[in-house]
Amino acid sequence: MSEANIESILHEKRIFPPSSEFSQNAHIKSLKDYQQLYEKAKSDPQTFWAELAQQELDWFQKWDTVLDWQPPFAKWFVNGKINISYNCLDRHLTTWRKNKAALIWEGEPGDSRTLTYAQLHREVCKFANVLKQLGVSKGDTVGIYMPMIPEAAIAMLACARIGAPHSVVFGGFSAEALRDRLNDAQAKVVITADGGFRKDAIVPLKPQVDKALENNAAPSVENVLVVQRTRQQVSMKTGRDHWWHNLEPNASANCPAEPMDSEDMLFILYTSGSTGKPKGVVHTTGGYNLYTHMTTKWIFDLQDTDVYWCTADVGWITGHSYIVYGPLSNGATTLMYEGAPRKSNPGCFWDVVEKYGVTVFYTAPTAIRAFIKMGDSHPKSRNLSSLRLLGTVGEPINPEAWMWYHKVIGGERCPIVDTWWQTETGGVMITPLPGAISTKPGSATRPFPGILADIVDLDGNPVPENEGGYLIVRHPWPGMMRTVYGDPERFRRTYWEHIAPKDGNYLYFAGDGARKDEDGYFWVMGRVDDVINVSGHRLGTMEVESALVSHPAVAEAAVVGKPDEIKGEDIVAFVTLEGGHDAGDDLTKELRKHVTEEIGAIARPGDIRFTDALPKTRSGKIMRRLLRNLAAGQEVSGDTSTLEDRSVLDKLRGGA
Ligand code: WTA
Repeated sequence: MSEANIESILHEKRIFPPSSEFSQNAHIKSLKDYQQLYEKAKSDPQTFWAELAQQELDWFQKWDTVLDWQPPFAKWFVNGKINISYNCLDRHLTTWRKNKAALIWEGEPGDSRTLTYAQLHREVCKFANVLKQLGVSKGDTVGIYMPMIPEAAIAMLACARIGAPHSVVFGGFSAEALRDRLNDAQAKVVITADGGFRKDAIVPLKPQVDKALENNAAPSVENVLVVQRTRQQVSMKTGRDHWWHNLEPNASANCPAEPMDSEDMLFILYTSGSTGKPKGVVHTTGGYNLYTHMTTKWIFDLQDTDVYWCTADVGWITGHSYIVYGPLSNGATTLMYEGAPRKSNPGCFWDVVEKYGVTVFYTAPTAIRAFIKMGDSHPKSRNLSSLRLLGTVGEPINPEAWMWYHKVIGGERCPIVDTWWQTETGGVMITPLPGAISTKPGSATRPFPGILADIVDLDGNPVPENEGGYLIVRHPWPGMMRTVYGDPERFRRTYWEHIAPKDGNYLYFAGDGARKDEDGYFWVMGRVDDVINVSGHRLGTMEVESALVSHPAVAEAAVVGKPDEIKGEDIVAFVTLEGGHDAGDDLTKELRKHVTEEIGAIARPGDIRFTDALPKTRSGKIMRRLLRNLAAGQEVSGDTSTLEDRSVLDKLRGGA
């Protein structure tokens, strides 16, 4: 772990209780109800989760053990047989929900589709049969590299239906990043589209897949299934590439869901850590289904009249858990939007809210800050009165942005659920339950029932109230990641050994700093490791550094985050050059382009600073703390005595 970067933020005093009307109609109606659930789960977690698993999900075969915990490896609902696609689709077909809208989709150019549960089920079955025709069977991994179109959700559910773990790669990642992920996951098939519409442009996807597979660089991939979306010209390799619309007409709509073991892998999703390559976070079937189901139900308070919209991309965990699996398992109407606020229509989100009467809206603080900048006229000129509940995720929300969201979007009547969680946790961990817990702007408030979160020092001892420390979780929960794909030791090292286990008690180390206030409310302050959170997207400093040094002009690179008004954090790269290369605007441009090609536009450094040398300790470790200070334009604070060459610092100061 790098030097801890834990600071206490200002103390927020405002408190917003939910209206009594909201509470009366909510699933969880009062603080007392929450406390009862929390205490029940704390005293007997296995009974708590088992009762919910029994009541809320359909199992083909009941489990015989609720939890098998061999730290740090957990198994939930051992020997239970279940299929999440069945829980998201089939079981609703025998109820009135059969003809309810399951998925409402709005494309950026203004086209739209609504699929009822019966229609979505049919599409998923057909897609699953096409995958089978392409040779995919239970246990084979499928890569998904898609725009935000219904087929992305259909593909995921089709994979789940036949027991083929999916590995969704965000459509903004480069061909190189895609190739690495396909190789690590040993994907047999890639599902993609010609392209997608985003911000008034076409994002090409198939050409990136072609590039990723060039020269047999991802040899596990046998077939590519291509959905037509943008209709631009793409090349199709005979024998390998297949149009979905050619295979679909002959596919049967009959495909029973495969009974999966509760612990069979449901998906792999890659995320950045402080060291090495992105990790393949593994989630399994039964526990993930239960955890995303319960968190969606209680946090978004879903009722059958709701139109629920989560603005994330399916390429991230938020899209997996809270666009696809959680809402559909609950039989809700989930809305999916292809585009993003853009020049031609900065108010497009509010058009969607008005058009469909969205009631629950879940987005990221970085989006909220961008909306503030675009001006109040956009939301104010639309009718947002259908909204009843708002949510945020991805990074800490600053109280100013929270207040704007509350007033301008929520009309001061909608509770805001600030949800803290991670790719690794599968679902939300710390959050208000909106009918039960009063909110404070900037705080994710309290742990979800069954989550024993705490704040400790490096020895695992709880820190006093209002003091910063490391955010940990004490007991396994059903939605937790099971391992790092292909690297269980990395799983142990990364999450379970930073804080030494005591008396056999393992603590899950989240990588975030936080404090708990006098009311037991959690205030998450951000990463304490070398992970940068740019617009809610996680990037490891190492990843960006490796991308930079793979350019021939770069000798060494050190990457840090600096505060940014809209993105939360932006990337600053300190770079030393190989002899014979000139620092300057041209090289800056070239390096930014290079990083975009290596990883994707989200990793492009906002600021590249050329320097003769990097500040290092005598043992050769780059002192990032100093660079963070410099990047933020602050005085260098703390101890600099371990610095090998003090003149480096003076030069950097002069240059910065
Ligand atoms: C940060 C996204 C403060 C945190 C679901 C975490 C947050 C990382 C919040 C996980 C929040 C997420 N308040 N910080 N409400 N939500 N984070 O894996 O640093 O993309 O560790 O999962 O985002 O990012 P990931």
